[in-house]
Amino acid sequence: MSIEHPSFGRIDDDRVIIFDTTLRDGEQSPGFSMNLDEKLRMAKALEELGVDVIEAGFPVASPGDFESVQRIAETVKEAVVCGLARSGGKRDIEAAGEAIAPAKRRRIHNFISTSPLHMKYKLRMEPETVLDLIASGNQAARQFTDDVQWSAEDGSRTEPDFLCRCVEVAIKNGANTINIPDTVGFATPDELQAIFAMLRERVPGAENVVFSTHNHNDLGLAVANTAAALAGGARQIECTINGIGERAGNAALEEIVMAIRTRHDKLAFKNNIETPRLLSVSRMLANITSFDVQPNKAIVGRNAFAHESGIHQDGILKNAATYEIMTPESVGWTKTSLVLGKHSGRAAFRDKLKALGYDLDDVTVQQAFERFKILADQKKTVFDDDIRALVDDETRDHERIKFVSLELVSGSKHPAQATLELNVDSEVRQAQVTGNGPVDAAFRAIQEIFPHDATLALFSVAAVTEGTDAQARTTVRLEENGKLVDGQGADADTVVSAVRAYVHALNKLLVKRTRAEPEALSA
Ligand code: KIV
Ligand code: ZN
Repeated sequence: MSIEHPSFGRIDDDRVIIFDTTLRDGEQSPGFSMNLDEKLRMAKALEELGVDVIEAGFPVASPGDFESVQRIAETVKEAVVCGLARSGGKRDIEAAGEAIAPAKRRRIHNFISTSPLHMKYKLRMEPETVLDLIASGNQAARQFTDDVQWSAEDGSRTEPDFLCRCVEVAIKNGANTINIPDTVGFATPDELQAIFAMLRERVPGAENVVFSTHNHNDLGLAVANTAAALAGGARQIECTINGIGERAGNAALEEIVMAIRTRHDKLAFKNNIETPRLLSVSRMLANITSFDVQPNKAIVGRNAFAHESGIHQDGILKNAATYEIMTPESVGWTKTSLVLGKHSGRAAFRDKLKALGYDLDDVTVQQAFERFKILADQKKTVFDDDIRALVDDETRDHERIKFVSLELVSGSKHPAQATLELNVDSEVRQAQVTGNGPVDAAFRAIQEIFPHDATLALFSVAAVTEGTDAQARTTVRLEENGKLVDGQGADADTVVSAVRAYVHALNKLLVKRTRAEPEALSA
């Protein structure tokens, strides 16, 4: 059996569409907001990874969201670019339609809640009104594109007969993808499988649309539920890199894709993901958002292929399959960790950047290369992760305030003294400040150069690689009037890395101050 789809043509029954919502569901969760450049970098990386649909944002939410969806629509070449809209919001659908217009292939995703709880308390609407809005929302979306998706928010907690009616109305009014989210991560795998099987059996027209699954991870079941939905007949998976998303997040793209690849005997589906790119996209997102992946995270955590116990190491040496169900290389871990040395030239550095998934302009490559040379002088061995940390630091948005230099005098006998230079709005400013230790002195110097009311809410340092000459990667979280921003910095000098992180956070705060807060969104 196959389906004719406006964006994908004929879709065979064993084909699964990968719908990435890192830039929408992921980006709307606290601490994960990205600026325009960061979103564009992620969108390009997602396209190269092979995702079929990129949900680029919620255009009506703010002018910034609108612009980023529009720019992604201009930039992405093959993937379908999708904009979110509420079924009941006429302006929502117009904004989504306008924002995705430049895309070669485009989708509007409209949604409305269908569970008794959401209809009564959140929407304060009667079921009949919801049905009317499903009809009008999908009709309106079809005015802008033939590729229309409709979602039943809180679908997994919706009364089955009503869910069937909603889906029937959505299909009759132009939707060709039907998404049934487990919005609050409450469903169990058997329940989800049954919902999709029921819809396919009972709803007229179900045979002509793609069913989609969107699972939140509140009970840690998102990926298991996604696999179960496939068994029930879903053929589109909504997921995010590193599993980011509202609350406990969404199904992690890398996990479900590798589950399909590794357990093809049970999940016999095709998709277009180039799995060796998974690690670099995961790292890119972690660096952009300043949220490191937990070490034991499946596929992309740094322990995912590490073997500590003697028994395991012995088994691995005899035959890797004893304790590895997939090869590290299949998801992007490379064996060669020593990459470049201080004699490496620009061409080798550029090649390395390409291999790590970076596509940078000449000026940025040159700036990164200069920092690499300094690092290679300081550090005996330069690892892939060192390059990633350095380049991500270099490509961060340091618009108004830039780090210039730091001199420190510290030790156990006297208060530490920091002499800091920052470039603020193209003017180099200097401060010399003492403090209770080098970090305190350096942070006080930032405060003196650029006075601000934000307070330090989190400060953490981790080594990028092993050894005493490892680069430090620092995360700084600042809070101002309830707004939180995270910044990251990397450098072979721990205090310089901390200052870079602080400056990064401060720049983000400045952007946040000028940006209108998006409307409160559900899901
Ligand atoms: O979780 C959810 O219900 C959503 C919808 C908007 C698809 O994110
Ligand atoms: Zn969601």
